Amino acid sequence: MIPLKSESDLQVLRASGKILSRVMQKLKDAVRSGITTAEIDNLAADFIQAENARSAFKGYRGYPAHVCTSINEEIVHGIPGNRVLKDTDIISLDIGIDFKGYFSDAAITLAVGKIDPLTKKLIEVTKTALDEGIKQAKTGNHLSDISHAIQSYVERNGFSVVREFVGHGIGFKLHEEPEIPNFGQPGEGPILKKGMVLAIEPMVNLGRWESEILTNGWTAITKDNLPSAHFEHTVAITDKGAEILTN
Ligand code: MF3
Ligand code: CO
Repeated sequence: MIPLKSESDLQVLRASGKILSRVMQKLKDAVRSGITTAEIDNLAADFIQAENARSAFKGYRGYPAHVCTSINEEIVHGIPGNRVLKDTDIISLDIGIDFKGYFSDAAITLAVGKIDPLTKKLIEVTKTALDEGIKQAKTGNHLSDISHAIQSYVERNGFSVVREFVGHGIGFKLHEEPEIPNFGQPGEGPILKKGMVLAIEPMVNLGRWESEILTNGWTAITKDNLPSAHFEHTVAITDKGAEILTN
């Protein structure tokens, strides 16, 4: 964890988060049945370039695209390609922005056309789980208070949290310490302090929590092939609680 040192660090990081949210909004508007995930990635590349920013994902550990597009049973790290979105699909868009060396990271899950009610509930519960986690991201709390809030909200609603992928510190790099699991007991791990920047990202499965990786070496899917949803925000800890930078 590299905490923010000054108000000007926070200002540039805010700009990075704002760029990300504008790109996300434009991609959200582009998602519809009939579009391919490669087309979404091309749009992302254009939108990010127009903001004078860089994709934090492209080239990261060899990742080949600008965004991650994870469909249905894909949990995270879906690689854009020639797959065509169709009615009843759900898709997670995950974007990382590097603006002047200041990193932000966010994800949303969208329904393509009409989806079944349980999958709709999965998306809503995952989104609210992120809100529940963010509420705990305040000075004096322990890191695992975030994890516990997410897990308990998700399990109360009958879904499961992914274990193999976690949130992370962020700010001057895409991934900084500490890891932020979406499960755990409260009151553990580091105490949260002003200037810390966290990417909180619940990944929630409709069925069981177990995952596996496809042969592309990247894409995680649910073992039971049931759908998974993902929401993420980058937040800064301030005196007044968590400031969501990617809104
Ligand atoms: N939000 C995800 C994460 O923090 C996406 C990373 S994609 C990668 O792990 F390409 F950069 F790995
Ligand atoms: Co992330």
